[in-house]
Formats: sequence, C-alpha cells, structure tokens
Amino acid sequence: MFIDTHCHLSRKYYDDIDNVILENRKSGIDKIIISGCELEDMEESVALALAYDDIYLSLGFHPSEAGKIGQDELGYLEELLHKNRVVAIGEIGLDYHYGKELIHEQKELFAYQLHLAEKLKLPVIIHSRDATRDTIELLRQYDVHGVIHCFSGSVEIAKEYIKMGFYLGIGGVVTFKNCNLSNAILEIGLNHLVLETDSPYLAPTPYRGEKNSSKYIPIIASRIADTLGVSQEEVMVETTNNALSIFDFS
Ligand code: NI
Repeated sequence: MFIDTHCHLSRKYYDDIDNVILENRKSGIDKIIISGCELEDMEESVALALAYDDIYLSLGFHPSEAGKIGQDELGYLEELLHKNRVVAIGEIGLDYHYGKELIHEQKELFAYQLHLAEKLKLPVIIHSRDATRDTIELLRQYDVHGVIHCFSGSVEIAKEYIKMGFYLGIGGVVTFKNCNLSNAILEIGLNHLVLETDSPYLAPTPYRGEKNSSKYIPIIASRIADTLGVSQEEVMVETTNNALSIFDFS
C-alpha cells in the first residue's frame, strides 16, 4: 500500500475524479493527502474527503496567497482544520522564486499558520522555494514537525531538516535527468523519506510534461529503490510507515 502525501485534486484539474481514485487503487495507492492551499480550493477539498475514503486533507494558505489573506480567511481556515480527515496544515511556507515583493506578508502568513499547527498539534507540509534560510529560521521558532514538500536541496540541508524532526517529500523530480537528489537520498536512506506526486504538476519520466496523478507513485518508488539498491517493495513499506508515523489517519 502506497500513500501519496501531497497532491492537488479538484475538478479544476480532473474531469473525472471517480476515475482518478479508481486508477489510484489499481496502482496500489490507497491513501492520498490532498492539499487545499488556496481559498477557492478548500471547500471542495473538504467535500471530496467526505465523498472518498481514500482522501485525507492538508489545508493551509500557500505563500502565493500572501497579501490576499486577512483575519477572516485565517479564522475560516482554523474552522476547517477541525473537520474530519484533516491530517496536516499545508502547504505553507515561503516562495521567493518570483521575487521578494511580498516577503513580509509571506513571513507573517507562514508564521501565523505555524502558530496554528503548534496550537492544534497538527503536522505541517512545507513549501519552500529559493527560501531555505528564512524557512529554517521560522520553523525553529515553533514546536512543529512534518514534511518538507518537494525537497530539492543539498545533503547538508536535508540533514538540517531531519535534525529538526522533518521528513523529506520526494516526487517526480527524482526521475528527471538533471536531478541531483541521489546524494541526499543515499545519505539519508529510507528512514526520513515520504512519497508524493504534487499532481497535477511534476509528472515523473516518462510522463514528464503531462498531467500527473497519484497513480504514478510506484514510478517514484522504483527510482528511489534503484538509487538505494533495494526493492520497490521496501521503499513502499518504509515510506508508508513514515507517513503513518507523521499523519494521524484514524
Ligand atoms: Ni503542491
């Protein structure tokens, strides 16, 4: 049994969600955590989790929402976080890829949601892009743990996150030709990794550029297995156990 710890599932991306879920099951993926990280997504995410046993929720405002979110929206998020099947806050974090214009608003939004995670004792799913130092600095101020989504840093950064109690989310990027995650994966081993797709984005090779789906999780597991010289089954068992230790699926 595989768990996709991070994906985006909504009618905006997929015409036939019944079919997505069926295909997941056929590929051995029986739990997925969908990230509702924009104001417009959240209600639909909650409804999907009610409709399908396979779906769990991570809710939180993405850094790209910074500047649009005020106290009302944060209050609404906190209400939703008490719903059934919510297993994490996320994806939250910092993204300086497109510039640092809203850096203050991003940090404020991130910090507030870290405070919520601490208060509600929920793990966090972290989005950090071109912002590693500031991300680590803020995370250190809160008693939180969880997953660094779409991890792509060095061995040193990987170790730093792990020391802070985080797991690394590995997705389709690991299958790309120019990917240099092998060293970090070799150094870390399976103990601190979880699998994710970030679908509909970042489809693994040979589907790169196409619409991604949780059903491709075994491809990611195979690539990690090749890197470590272990079986795909071992990657599945270990990463699933890791996910079960982070998130409360009960
Ligand atoms: Ni995502």
